[in-house]
Amino acid sequence: MRKSIFMCCKKLTLVKFLFSFLFLIASTTAMLAQDAAEGETLFKNNCAACHASTDEVLVGPGLKGISERRPIEWIVKWVHNPQAVIASGDKYANDLYNKFNKAAMTPYPNFSEAQIKGIIAYIDASNAAPAAPAAGAAPAAGAAAPAAQSSGGMMEVLLVGLLIIMVIVLIALLSIVNSLSKLSKAAEADPSKSFFERVSENAKSLAANSAVKTGIIVLVLLLGGKATIDAAYGVGIHQGYAPEQPIKFSHKLHAGQYQINCNYCHTGVYEGKGANVPSANICMNCHNAIKRESPEIQKIYKALEKDEPIQWVRVHNLPDLAYFNHSQHTNVGGLECKNCHGEIEKMEVVEQRSSLTMGWCIDCHRQTDVNAKGNAYYDKLVEVHNKDSKTPLKVQNIGGLECSKCHY
Ligand code: HEC
Ligand code: HEC
Ligand code: HEC
Ligand code: HEC
Ligand code: HEC
Ligand code: HEC
Repeated sequence: MRKSIFMCCKKLTLVKFLFSFLFLIASTTAMLAQDAAEGETLFKNNCAACHASTDEVLVGPGLKGISERRPIEWIVKWVHNPQAVIASGDKYANDLYNKFNKAAMTPYPNFSEAQIKGIIAYIDASNAAPAAPAAGAAPAAGAAAPAAQSSGGMMEVLLVGLLIIMVIVLIALLSIVNSLSKLSKAAEADPSKSFFERVSENAKSLAANSAVKTGIIVLVLLLGGKATIDAAYGVGIHQGYAPEQPIKFSHKLHAGQYQINCNYCHTGVYEGKGANVPSANICMNCHNAIKRESPEIQKIYKALEKDEPIQWVRVHNLPDLAYFNHSQHTNVGGLECKNCHGEIEKMEVVEQRSSLTMGWCIDCHRQTDVNAKGNAYYDKLVEVHNKDSKTPLKVQNIGGLECSKCHY
């Protein structure tokens, strides 16, 4: 009798120990995963317009393998202030800068070291994980966000994998504890059976064990919940979306090779709210003479004959609840198209490079200085601002974070 009480106490301590051990693993993985998940958001909202997480070169170099190429202290310094690193005479930085034709990278002085490490963790994770999409995890999300999984999926696959492993370990440990305690009871009741006989008897009853059943139910629930959350988050984010267009129009050819100005076709981009997608008449300025016989150009003629607009598939599309004005950003703000759209002049097919989420708008408004030079409207504001602040006037200081500026 005394012995079984002793066993029971031991079992309890063991269970407690196992739980705290699992909890420790869970919270560490959750923390790591959160860093990388935050890194993913930061990367997409701030870096993706110029950098790919692969080795593809966009405006800047592909960042695959950056954690091996450069020590983390260097990366942190660089992201905080690239120009300072270049000015310090750092050979690597200067070589790179020259290689990229002295393209200036945006500084991110407000990013914490942890945030930058998170970005690097995300880049490493997205290159380490196999390219398979989450196995059937969320067909709904897939349908709603055609391309969002491309890089974001990796992190989630990793997370779910870890969760499943943890649940399995928990179940296994619990049933071991259970069997052991049964064994010790059995040993008291029937000392004649050998230890191994008893173990095999226990293994048979394990399948029917209620702990295993509960475990399976928990697992199914977890997977179901994950799919739902995926679907909910995926809706509306179309980063990477590059639909096929009715006519094979190439920006690489027109804006890249032939250097036609963006606003020759997107006539509203410096003056109005919308940039406008050109009507067939604008194409005709050139194509009434150029390549008339091409079947692709013939499609323009057909549209004009039928007096129907060409059915371009819209790539970028904010929901109606948000207000965005191009001229405010290009003309007043002095931003370039590539700050938000990436290098369209290198794209055969237009692709949405930025996430276009609220966080993306807000992040930039927090970090970007107002382009106040030569704008009398801002002179007074700058003067007032500079009186009680050492940092330059940012978009957030002129109301760029106010809900009503972006929402009707
Ligand atoms: C406006 C474009 C732009 C943005 C935005 C941008 N970068 Fe860069 N980045 C560059 C360019 C261009 C270079 C190459 C060096 C140069 O010309 O200054 C570079 C270089 C780098 C390098 C060195 C790469 C190597 O191969 O050694 C790192 C690391 C880096 N950027 C990280 C980041 C991170 C992290 C972010 C987001 C927080 C970011 N960059 C945002 C343009 C950009
Ligand atoms: C010769 C005319 C022409 C020029 C020049 C041109 N574009 Fe376009 N652009 C189009 C047409 C046509 C479409 C719609 C078809 C498509 O998406 O490819 C389009 C689509 C776009 C889209 C996606 C619109 C959407 O549906 O969300 C963006 C962004 C864009 N252009 C940016 C630019 C930038 C930046 C430049 C300059 C570097 C530029 N364009 C130069 C004709 C032009
Ligand atoms: C400013 C002049 C100009 C304008 C405007 C223009 N293009 Fe072009 N386009 C060209 C030139 C130049 C070529 C290259 C012709 C060649 O390869 O010989 C070309 C080639 C093309 C081709 C490839 C044809 C083929 O079969 O090789 C397509 C498709 C095309 N343009 C569609 C359009 C559409 C659609 C518009 C209107 C949105 C448009 N272009 C507006 C100058 C223009
Ligand atoms: C501050 C970020 C930003 C800059 C800079 C920017 N765009 Fe846009 N662009 C957007 C957003 C956001 C949308 C989606 C707007 C919507 O759905 O209402 C968009 C949509 C477009 C579209 C689709 C048609 C439309 O008007 O909605 C075209 C074309 C376009 N941009 C071209 C350009 C060109 C050309 C430039 C440079 C001269 C440029 N953009 C600069 C953020 C930007
Ligand atoms: C690349 C950086 C960048 C991004 C991304 C960006 N903005 Fe801006 N935004 C600016 C700058 C710079 C200004 C200041 C322009 C000026 O001087 O008035 C501005 C100003 C504004 C203003 C006027 C604010 C005021 O108080 O006058 C609104 C509204 C706005 N942005 C909406 C948006 C929305 C909506 C999005 C996302 C869809 C967005 N912006 C994304 C840089 C950005
Ligand atoms: C700089 C522009 C900007 C500011 C400031 C801003 N929003 Fe948004 N907001 C957006 C954009 C763009 C979207 C659409 C995002 C999307 O489609 O993912 C959005 C979406 C939303 C949504 C819809 C839910 C969602 O996430 O899609 C809500 C609710 C919202 N904003 C509330 C607010 C509130 C409250 C504030 C003030 C504290 C605010 N917003 C300030 C740009 C802004």
